[in-house]
Amino acid sequence: MKVVVLTGAGISAESGVPTFRDAGGLWEGHRVEDVATPEAFARDSDTVQRFYDARRHAVALAEPNPAHDALAGLERALGDDLLVVTQNIDGLHERAGSQRVLHMHGELSVARCTACGARSPVPGDLIDRPACPACGERMLRPDVVWFGEMPYGLDEIEQALASCDVFAAIGTSGAVYPAAGFVVTAAEHGARTIELNLAASEITPLFDEVRHGPASIVVPDWCDELR
Ligand code: APR
Repeated sequence: MKVVVLTGAGISAESGVPTFRDAGGLWEGHRVEDVATPEAFARDSDTVQRFYDARRHAVALAEPNPAHDALAGLERALGDDLLVVTQNIDGLHERAGSQRVLHMHGELSVARCTACGARSPVPGDLIDRPACPACGERMLRPDVVWFGEMPYGLDEIEQALASCDVFAAIGTSGAVYPAAGFVVTAAEHGARTIELNLAASEITPLFDEVRHGPASIVVPDWCDELR
């Protein structure tokens, strides 16, 4: 049985990582839309760097919750038949033990050099302009996909959606495409679809089954059933 799981900010909410669209969705006093764009970075790179440095510090204090743990356990049972596609840039899936995670919006822990394109683990706060380990230039940016930029791994995701038997969306509002359309692609190829979310989302009507509740409760229950 092939399973694709899409996760959003809601799976990390109980780990203390604020979501984007609950409670005003403000991050360090900024709207994500105002700082997570190439234009914002060109206009005021220091503000953008400080925004992501602050998120990196906040996420470092967070711990995986039972939902992340349950997906890591499901991977131990299903192996390569499970693919977790996350919109989240926190590393909580990996810290819970998941190894097959596709970060379609990038990762806070990775820096990308705007001079040579090399990716490297973030060496420290990017506001301090650390040097790129590959070319030495001091032009690193967060390797995070901003609004208007192309998400990572879309070909691999489309292939997985076209061949999966089960598609689950966990903790996502369905407010941002292309992720919000994954359920349609999976269903068109015959997958059974389920939404595990705290409340109804914009895409709830598109799922075969919907379970509302906190991820730390509904996700472990679902993973146990699947195994
Ligand atoms: N358990 C399960 N779901 C939860 C919980 C919880 N404890 N808390 C909140 N949720 C749900 C909310 O009901 C909401 O539907 O998680 C969803 C969070 O939605 P968003 O804040 O919009 O986060 P997400 O869907 O990941 O946003 C998608 O938008 O801002 C961009 O790039 C950013 O990746 C992000 C994308």
